[in-house]
Amino acid sequence: MGKTALITGITGQDGAYLAEYLIKKGYTVHGMKRRSSLFNTDRIDHLYQGPHEKERKLILHYGDLTDSMNITRIIQEVQPDEIYNLAAMSHVKVSFDTPEYTANADGIGTLRILESVRLLGLTEKTRVYQASTSELYGLVQEIPQKETTPFYPRSPYAVAKLYGYWITVNYREAYGMHASNGILFNHESPLRGETFVTRKITRAVSRIALSMQDKLFLGNLSAQRDWGHAKDYVRAMYLILQQDKPSDYVIATGITTTVRDFVKMSFAELGLEVAFSGEGVNEKGKIAGINEKLFIEKAGAEYLENAKMLVGKEVVAVDKAYFRPTEVELLIGDPTKSRTLLGWTPEYDLPALVKDMMRSDVKEVKKNALLQKEGYRILNYFE
Ligand code: NAP
Ligand code: GDD
Repeated sequence: MGKTALITGITGQDGAYLAEYLIKKGYTVHGMKRRSSLFNTDRIDHLYQGPHEKERKLILHYGDLTDSMNITRIIQEVQPDEIYNLAAMSHVKVSFDTPEYTANADGIGTLRILESVRLLGLTEKTRVYQASTSELYGLVQEIPQKETTPFYPRSPYAVAKLYGYWITVNYREAYGMHASNGILFNHESPLRGETFVTRKITRAVSRIALSMQDKLFLGNLSAQRDWGHAKDYVRAMYLILQQDKPSDYVIATGITTTVRDFVKMSFAELGLEVAFSGEGVNEKGKIAGINEKLFIEKAGAEYLENAKMLVGKEVVAVDKAYFRPTEVELLIGDPTKSRTLLGWTPEYDLPALVKDMMRSDVKEVKKNALLQKEGYRILNYFE
């Protein structure tokens, strides 16, 4: 008999990759999905099995982290061997707009899961993974950040996640639960939500190159992040729950890069060179050159003439609307513990991540460019 896992946040980036990974390992995966007015299952549609199919490997349940009784009922029905609590209001900037909801879902939501496991008498059976975050380090107290680095959260999101972190540790110590935190540094992919900076960049760069958008507006270009690929990071989640003893692990690449350099790398994927000048809100990025051969290979000859006209044009500007009231300027993780104890090492480095995201977004933009030619209105949401 394969194991049974319950994933909260299954419709999100990590939930989708983790569900696929566990199903391949022979798990039956139950996912918690919020009710929405449209289907919101794009990321897991390739795994979907209808309710009338036999021996389903993926089963979805309506639920919400703010609803205790619903969580308890789902856990009671599913009797999971493993719970991966990935659901969260996960956008740092949005958490300044919705602080109370964020505290409820991301902080108390974690308590609801742990307490349900305890009340249902499942502390021996059910292992719990909590999606903790490098945002806990916030105003960093040490470089690089490791498991023992003191936390200094800088947003309502990070403060809520701080509660989630410590209540997980507390349930482990108080009730002997196999409950662990993965302190994951930023991880991205073609499935990344469109308003996180990497995906915002790779989508916009693809659109600019293919004449579907003029300019990319960003906030703090000097912020530094330790970016990995989500596919590698869900593997770490699984490994954390396979250990005999529960513990907390930093999952990171150990390399940090500025947002500005991520922009340059994304344009460079298509053979476009960007040069930045100016400072703060006046900083601009202009196309300084084009490698025509590379552009044709990656974007297609049919877009070359328009792309050549981009040379000398301003394609990146700063809009202070994207600044945060309190910012996390630098994150860089020390993954020694996870490498040593979990045997975890990432397969993707940053260039491979950028390549994967750009390949996927160029493909999508090309489809949209064709639809636009046929007269369809293709919206560019600026967020
Ligand atoms: P994501 O793409 O934003 O997905 C979040 C998921 O949570 C979605 O399925 C969302 O459902 C669900 N959700 C939100 N509020 C909920 C609620 N009240 N009840 C039930 N479900 C709810 O996030 P992600 O990038 O996959 O991240 C997964 C987890 O890891 C999150 O907890 C995040 O905070 C944490 N984390 C992420 C990173 C990273 O770099 N990606 C790093 C460290 C930690 P809808 O689809 O309905 O919105
Ligand atoms: N989103 C966004 N949009 N960020 C921008 C922009 C912009 O236009 N311009 C600059 N940035 C900067 C942000 O100020 C931040 O310093 C950095 O880019 C990364 O922002 P996000 O991609 O939104 O991610 P995050 O680091 O705030 O949070 C993500 O990673 C955390 C782990 O460290 C989320 O996935 C969190 O859920 C996760 O916990």
